[in-house]
Amino acid sequence: MSQQEFWNNKFSREGYLYGTKPNSFIASKVKTFPRNAKVLCLGEGEGRNAVFLAKRGFEVTAIDASDIGLSKLHFRALEEGVTIETICVDLKDWEVKETYDVIVASYLHLYKEDRAKLFEKIQDSLRPDGLFVGEFFSTKQLNYDSGGPKDEELLYTVDDFKKGFALYQNDIKEVVTILDEGRGHQGEASVIRVMVEN
Ligand SMILES: C[S@@+](CC[C@H](N)C(=O)[O-])C[C@H]1O[C@@H](n2cnc3c(N)ncnc32)[C@H](O)[C@@H]1O
Repeated sequence: MSQQEFWNNKFSREGYLYGTKPNSFIASKVKTFPRNAKVLCLGEGEGRNAVFLAKRGFEVTAIDASDIGLSKLHFRALEEGVTIETICVDLKDWEVKETYDVIVASYLHLYKEDRAKLFEKIQDSLRPDGLFVGEFFSTKQLNYDSGGPKDEELLYTVDDFKKGFALYQNDIKEVVTILDEGRGHQGEASVIRVMVEN
């Protein structure tokens, strides 16, 4: 099954699977984004981060494999009176054509063999002094029932990011937190918080 089929199926239900509030780690870092930054949201799904960022005046582009997720994003953007550019593509096939001041991602579950290529594309897309900010489930999330895949191959370690962004200034931590993100992520969880500066 393709990522598009898998996620279209999940996003077909009424409502927003991960709620409409932004991921709290990404939201907490917004004060470090340059004014009027050009921001790219990867694996953005139904658009909770993208809408939040567009409402704060950033120029936002969102990429996702799910056309249903992105049409829900556009519906919310219209409701909130903001414009967001979207690109519906599997990140494996995404070709870097532009550069961004900030790239964000929350809970983008990628197989290990697809990560190195994506990390390279992120680096190619970041402007000088650009930021990559993200939150991901750690391999320890297998011990929790608050959401995320039950497949270790789709979960991350701190080292995965440290190796992937070795040439960059980075702050990468594994933390236990309480998630309150729609019906998809609820309760105690083990996550990795990533802040990388170009
Ligand atoms: C757990 S959801 C998170 C959605 C959103 N980031 C959020 O936190 O609300 C994972 C998202 O990543 C997208 N995704 C997963 N693998 C992808 C891939 N290879 N290419 C593009 N999008 C992908 C899915 O379509 C889905 O929207």
